Amino acid sequence: MERKPLVLANWKMAMGISETISFIERFIPLVGKLAEEVDIIICPPYTSLYVAACKLKGSPLQLGAQNLHPGPGLAFTGEISASLLADVGCRWVMLGHWERRRYFGETDELVNRKVRAALDAGLHPVLLVGESREARESPYDDLARQLECILSGCNAQEIKQMAFVYEPEWAIGVEKPASGVHIQKGCAYIREWLNRRFGGVGNSIRIIYGGSVSPESAPNILTQPDVDGLGTTRKGRDPFSLFSIVKAVAEARVLT
Ligand code: PGA
Repeated sequence: MERKPLVLANWKMAMGISETISFIERFIPLVGKLAEEVDIIICPPYTSLYVAACKLKGSPLQLGAQNLHPGPGLAFTGEISASLLADVGCRWVMLGHWERRRYFGETDELVNRKVRAALDAGLHPVLLVGESREARESPYDDLARQLECILSGCNAQEIKQMAFVYEPEWAIGVEKPASGVHIQKGCAYIREWLNRRFGGVGNSIRIIYGGSVSPESAPNILTQPDVDGLGTTRKGRDPFSLFSIVKAVAEARVLT
């Protein structure tokens, strides 16, 4: 089944307003028509979302946020709701990143509430799933537990609005990504799980890999049949590196 390839750039707490403007002004002409072949989602910090939305207007690049607060209601000082993200121009929202889990105590139950809030506001969730450092050698229990809980209450139509990132905790912010074999097994596991639970829906869902991706490591990862694209942080803040990753993703698709 044809799945449109996907690239996700999560800028974390980097990229203020002038850096965001300069990135987008350089990246759009660099990436040119490739942005129609590959869905590219840029996730700036909250403070740069508005300027990014203005600069991205009319381009095929898509805007995403890194998190949301599920409410209900408005009385959560300092937090950002799904409807505020939709209002500023986000189409996507990342949910379940390991840094949220590890440093903010986010549970699968909370991620599930965020999924519901995102869908209710018309946002598309980008769900990050991956085993913990401790489960590196036997990841599948972690993956099954996360998927089971974060997708609880969702139906197949809703799953079709999502994208998934297979991102093991131990592969984030290190020198090298996980091995091709490890990545393929993880992505295939997620796809099969979705197929089993939601009547074959996994075959049409984008599942990408994240964790220490670079322009150099990208082509090898992309030879794996269940990898539909890549997510990156460090290499996603430089227009030339991100362009190289997008190019690798587009070329891999031509080869398969
Ligand atoms: P990295 O980060 O690309 O810098 O390894 C990945 C992530 O945290 O999602």
